[in-house]
Amino acid sequence: MSSSLPKICQKVKKVPPLRIVVLISGSGTNLQSLIDACQSGQIDGEIVGVISNKADAYGLQRAENHQISTIVLQHQSYSSRDEFDQALQQAIDSFTPELVVLAGFMRILGKQIAQHYHGRMFNIHPSLLPKYPGLHTHQRALEAGDLYHGCSIHFVTAELDGGPLVAQNKFDIEPLDTEESLKQKVQHLEHILYPQVVQLFCSQRLKLESQGATLDGELLQL
Ligand code: GAR
Repeated sequence: MSSSLPKICQKVKKVPPLRIVVLISGSGTNLQSLIDACQSGQIDGEIVGVISNKADAYGLQRAENHQISTIVLQHQSYSSRDEFDQALQQAIDSFTPELVVLAGFMRILGKQIAQHYHGRMFNIHPSLLPKYPGLHTHQRALEAGDLYHGCSIHFVTAELDGGPLVAQNKFDIEPLDTEESLKQKVQHLEHILYPQVVQLFCSQRLKLESQGATLDGELLQL
């Protein structure tokens, strides 16, 4: 049987899924949402490795459940932040990823490693940045009497929780909310938002350019 397709169609190649490495420190519920989104086809990517700085992080078990390779790098075993960052960079690069996703990774990264993954590393943070970088974000939102709370995703730079924002999801804080209820609500939104953002990157719509984060070539202003 001969094909009547024009030559140009015959040449279209399927783009291989993007190689993604996920860094975790704990329970890994965001990791799970990304694994599920890769498996369902929502993300055109493959999680090729998971790295944790804690040996008992439950996220490692989640990765193993899906036959994803894992590496544990305990930061206490390194004499300086630079030494840990170098080992971390080596571990990440051993998977040759195109994207690195911080999903509850509770270590501050130095300038050099942030620069190495410039434009190809995301972090998710449980607050509406620039409000409340760092820890205890739910408690701080409650204490401040905020009307809204939520989560943010940004490209990683050397500034703690400070790189260009790419997406936020927010909700009203109710009078009966507690730290625990805010955590649950934030995580629910995170599990929806992170796969969406990762897919925008995989489909090359979301980029970090000299003027900031862009979506379809338009500067994102959050
Ligand atoms: C998430 O809520 C994430 O926003 C937060 O840690 C949690 C990890 O949960 N990240 C940070 O605080 C980073 N500054 P998970 O391990 O269940 O995905």
